[in-house]
Amino acid sequence: MGTSIVVTSGKGGTGKSSFTVGVASCLAAMGKEVLCIDMDFGLRNLDLSLGVADAALMDVTDVLQGRCPLERAVVRQPRLEHLSLLPAPATRPPAPLDRDAMKTLMKQVRQSYDFCFLDCPAGIGSGFTLAVSGADQAVVVANPDPITIRAAQAAVYQLRDEKIPARLAVNRITRRILRRLDTNIDDAMDTLGLPLIGIIPEDPYVTLAASQGSPLILSRSRGAARAYYNIAKRLLGQRVPPMRIR
Ligand SMILES: Nc1ncnc2c1ncn2[C@@H]1O[C@H](COP(=O)(O)OP(=O)(O)OP(=O)(O)O)[C@@H](O)[C@H]1O
Ligand SMILES: [Mg+2]
Repeated sequence: MGTSIVVTSGKGGTGKSSFTVGVASCLAAMGKEVLCIDMDFGLRNLDLSLGVADAALMDVTDVLQGRCPLERAVVRQPRLEHLSLLPAPATRPPAPLDRDAMKTLMKQVRQSYDFCFLDCPAGIGSGFTLAVSGADQAVVVANPDPITIRAAQAAVYQLRDEKIPARLAVNRITRRILRRLDTNIDDAMDTLGLPLIGIIPEDPYVTLAASQGSPLILSRSRGAARAYYNIAKRLLGQRVPPMRIR
């Protein structure tokens, strides 16, 4: 039985989609069967960052509304045979989708995949609520600044209401930022009341890999690629020492 993980943040642009592709591709490279579901309806981007935009013909709403079976809607990443994507629709559906249909879909997903990542849109609107209804666990992606940390609190409250255990990933860390900001990672954990799943350094290769449609792990083993790999190992229950930020 697989595990589904909702990736959320509150504020937009903190690195949810990068985290999803980064960690999912590491797990797939380790031989786990992994599905990413793009829940950012109308603003999809995982098809591009996974390099499968041309093959993303059906989407998650086609499956939720019974127009297409799951197996036909998923697209495989060409260079990582264990990694698949269930794309988001290119346009926003006119009405919110049924949470029960999402729960039913996730039951099927857990049977076929070891891990499923639900990449949320920014904010805590209907896309977030739908994604959360299919999740066993959550990762809240924040940046090391008080603004994104406060915005993440709204998502954390909702996850608590839904009784979904959550962990924190702090993204885009540099030594300089850690030195200059009053907030540090301990403060972020305290404010949000979440245990840490990992820290991810600022790394220009994250943006480069996404724009080339090629998961970072295929070209890099240091920086953010290493951080995603460490987090993937922690999701598998392995103990990995904290990463040093250079
Ligand atoms: N560790 C990192 N180092 C450098 N750039 C990063 C890092 N993580 C993410 N980025 C860049 O930040 C931008 C936003 O990242 P991403 O799209 O993953 O965020 P998001 O939370 O999914 O955004 P949205 O809320 O709009 O869905 C992208 O250009 C991405 O390449
Ligand atoms: Mg995103």
